[in-house]
Amino acid sequence: MAMIKYSPAVLLLLYMTAAMVGVVVAELQRFDHAVKSDGSLSFLVVGDWGRRGLYNQSNVAYQMGKVGEKTDVDFIISTGDNFYDSGLIDVDDPAFFESFSNVYTAPSLQKQWYSVLGNHDYRGNALAQLSPVLTQKDSRWFCLKSFMLHAGNTEFFFVDTTPFQDKYFTETKHTYDWRGVLPRPDYIANLLKEVDIALKESNAKWKIVVGHHTMFSAGDHGNTQELVDKLLPILKENEVNLYINGHDHCLQQISSPDSKLQFLTSGGGSKAWRGNTNPWNPNELKFYYDGQGFMNCEITYEKIQLAFYDIFGNELHKWSVSEYVHSSS
Ligand SMILES: *[C@@H]1O[C@H](CO)[C@@H](O)[C@H](O)[C@H]1NC(C)=O
Repeated sequence: MAMIKYSPAVLLLLYMTAAMVGVVVAELQRFDHAVKSDGSLSFLVVGDWGRRGLYNQSNVAYQMGKVGEKTDVDFIISTGDNFYDSGLIDVDDPAFFESFSNVYTAPSLQKQWYSVLGNHDYRGNALAQLSPVLTQKDSRWFCLKSFMLHAGNTEFFFVDTTPFQDKYFTETKHTYDWRGVLPRPDYIANLLKEVDIALKESNAKWKIVVGHHTMFSAGDHGNTQELVDKLLPILKENEVNLYINGHDHCLQQISSPDSKLQFLTSGGGSKAWRGNTNPWNPNELKFYYDGQGFMNCEITYEKIQLAFYDIFGNELHKWSVSEYVHSSS
């Protein structure tokens, strides 16, 4: 297995130490994923998907398999809302097989998946999705609330964005599994500190932050103001290259007017076609597609290359950025 993590003994020691002194260890858990022998990396991003293959989920999965084979994909990122409508009931919920294992069956997709939770996942048993029991059932599965992943020249910072959004704490229509999140102000303050520290310590060539919720979006949900206020300044200050999210059921690229950040939505894993797009400055909105699909990303030392695909395998949009290192001699 390509993924290396802290040994259980080390983790246990960390947790025991934290419990004894009554503080949260202000460090994101860190994982490693080996890249290709030439140092390059390719991965797919899909979000908002688990509907037992329905709403074109199976067609998205099929095309992911084809693109993944072509690009020899190293891993797959899920931007959350993994299981509709209300996450998993427990680790034995058949939805895990029906919406994940039995849908993403292509040979090229038999790789490690790195997932975060979405707001719909929090409506069920949020801790079930984080359980190693699921990884025993399907070795591809890996989901934590927040963590970081080192892969060659690139570092990924996965951020648990659901607790940021105020409305989930006031609405009465749904209940959320906030175990481990309360008291909320402490949880958010700690998480922001952990992300900031991890970004500052990173000397990766490319920095990518992944969360479920939008930062900026012309789609149905629109911007997530809480993230714009609290998380965005940290991303800007630390020169993050990409913020990748789901939540809006569409495919989208928005360029920041005042930094190198690109805001990428890949939330077209199943039900889409919401039909309400908000007007956006065309200089910033590089691409918007209201239907199903996914994103492919290929990274080398010099370049990040993105492409979005629909359920027919059409490449809808392509974008790349290059940063060359100038020799000082
Ligand atoms: C499936 O995708 C096709 C082609 O994009 C679209 O016309 C159709 O409405 C989609 N079906 C659903 C249920 O979203």
